[in-house]
Amino acid sequence: MGLASRIKMTLGLTEPFKPYDKPVDWQKPYETLRTKWVEVPITNWEILSTEELLALPDNELLAKWEKSRTTLTTGAQWDHRGWYHALYADSMHGKKVMDIGSGFGVDSITFAQHGARMTFVDLVETNLKVLQRLCKILGLKGVQFQHFQDLSSLRALEADYDVIMAMGSLHNAPVEVMKPEYQELLRHLRVGGRWLQLAYPKIRWTKAGRPTFDKWGQMLERSPWEEWYDVPKLLSMFEPAKFDVVLYREFHNGDFNWFDLAYRGQ
Ligand SMILES: C[S@@+](CC[C@H](N)C(=O)[O-])C[C@H]1O[C@@H](n2cnc3c(N)ncnc32)[C@H](O)[C@@H]1O
Repeated sequence: MGLASRIKMTLGLTEPFKPYDKPVDWQKPYETLRTKWVEVPITNWEILSTEELLALPDNELLAKWEKSRTTLTTGAQWDHRGWYHALYADSMHGKKVMDIGSGFGVDSITFAQHGARMTFVDLVETNLKVLQRLCKILGLKGVQFQHFQDLSSLRALEADYDVIMAMGSLHNAPVEVMKPEYQELLRHLRVGGRWLQLAYPKIRWTKAGRPTFDKWGQMLERSPWEEWYDVPKLLSMFEPAKFDVVLYREFHNGDFNWFDLAYRGQ
């Protein structure tokens, strides 16, 4: 997709509305999500299939990843991903971290480079294979990869993670679908551990004219569903578990929001 179409889509200017053109069946949520997420965001305007990325030689794959990180974290995009890399990267040293929905791993590979013991989890196997290649090229140690086939794949993970991070990955399906996944993920976070999440704020949805979430998915990402989160909605996904809010922030002109929660137990 060209830059102009991407901008139009982001602004919700693509009319008339075309429903997501692949099968959507929320009784089979992970199959449905996989119809979309065989591609991952590289920058704000580029989304690529991980099959295609896997076909690149090592030097081109690494160059693509490095360019993606530079584009998303520096200059005008400092206010996108740069600020939280600066805020969190050093404190990740020695931490056991899970990245759920790791995609192209711009954040989690960076944190692994700063010494995090990272477990990358994704719904799509080729997405993980790209990260496996990148971690090998970068010589990263202490990394693990878990293919998320269904909730039982999460159950296999250990229960003592210091940090669980979900960057743009846990708002792509209706809350009824997502709640069991949030609940399962929480079983793997130690009490006192941190939950970091990047999502979409309500203001972005309001500015888009309050579309239904299936329509919003189509407008934002050509995906079957995108939903806004705020602190009460996110906390409700974990109930009855208790959290303290360390930081909540809307950023990049209201495009995204950031949740940093400290887990206080059930
Ligand atoms: C918008 S991309 C974000 C990727 C990456 N975290 C980033 O920050 O660029 C969404 C990623 O989450 C994965 N994903 C989508 N829904 C998910 C779910 N319910 N559970 C786990 N991963 C999911 C997709 O496979 C995809 O890799």
